[in-house]
Amino acid sequence: MENNRLCELLRIRYPVVQAPMNWVSGAALVAAVSNAGGMGTLGPNAGATAIETDVGLTGERLRNQIREARSLTTKPFAVNIAVGVGSGRQYSQRCVEVAIEEGVQVAVVSVGGPDVYTTALKDAGITVLHAVSTARHAKKAAEVGVDGVICEGFESGGHKGFTELTTFTLIPMVADAVTIPVVAGGGICDARGLLAAMALGADGVYMGTRFMVTRESNSHPSVKEAVVGGDDTCTTSLPKDMMLARDLKNRFTEKYLEMNAAAASPEELRGYLNEHSQFHAQAGGDAEGSEICCGQVAGLIKNVAGAEEVFQEIVGAMPSSVNRLTRNITVFL
Ligand SMILES: Cc1cc2nc3c(=O)[nH]c(=O)nc-3n(C[C@H](O)[C@H](O)[C@H](O)COP(=O)(O)O)c2cc1C
Repeated sequence: MENNRLCELLRIRYPVVQAPMNWVSGAALVAAVSNAGGMGTLGPNAGATAIETDVGLTGERLRNQIREARSLTTKPFAVNIAVGVGSGRQYSQRCVEVAIEEGVQVAVVSVGGPDVYTTALKDAGITVLHAVSTARHAKKAAEVGVDGVICEGFESGGHKGFTELTTFTLIPMVADAVTIPVVAGGGICDARGLLAAMALGADGVYMGTRFMVTRESNSHPSVKEAVVGGDDTCTTSLPKDMMLARDLKNRFTEKYLEMNAAAASPEELRGYLNEHSQFHAQAGGDAEGSEICCGQVAGLIKNVAGAEEVFQEIVGAMPSSVNRLTRNITVFL
């Protein structure tokens, strides 16, 4: 815990945050990660078994997930607030209210600006980590008063901005832009990745895809199998309305990219997406015909492990990774 300011800020043992994942990161995964010494994060639709459009019910489901996670761990964990735009904002607003009512300790705020919820969350005593994909946005988040920034590179699974900045270039730029703790995500799943992120200036790491492929995640077994089967070129990037999404290549991505190349209208693309959404893959098990958000790091993941094993592997491999690094850089010392 000592000497690492992210661990101190979040009151965790290891500087590893499990990134929020829509449909995937529910109470069981979150508690397993927090019990293992990291920080688990409840994602949107955690605990849902059907698509829910009622704002009130969405809030109550989050409340139940928070309470379930609390029954499984005494350690701190986070809730994802995906800010959203337009009518999507009513869901995040309700989730903020529930997080405050339930006394959640940490919020991971993503998909929107830091000026929307930071003050309300901080006034309620909640530690705020804000996800960004540029140094400029990191600076803005720090100015608004967040406690730490999460920078996500283009390698990351899921939805990002259009800048295509990779983790390797983004971390040092963000670390130079702010003085608050920096958490780095995108392409990290093991001790080597953690060391590299720290060498570049990060205080900790943010891992999604690695934790999607754990026994405790709510991801469907056929999706986990497909991700474990992925190689170094198994993902692709899809242009959507306001962002890019990194997904596992499958029949769904092939068709979507074909439609996009044939200049399909935004409505047609949205309609196709809705019919083949992550819900159908993660809850329904349609790993070929529906969207699976997935990072490039899938090519490094060879097994469906328990969350605790993921931590044991990182801790176990750390000495040899450090030795190798030290050996290679002694020429400079
Ligand atoms: C299946 C999946 C679902 C995701 N859903 C969300 C989400 O709901 N909210 C969010 O902020 N990020 C989401 N992400 C992005 C992750 O939080 C994180 O940025 C990313 O996984 C980090 O890169 P990595 O996959 O290389 O570890 C998702 C990622 C995956 C793989």
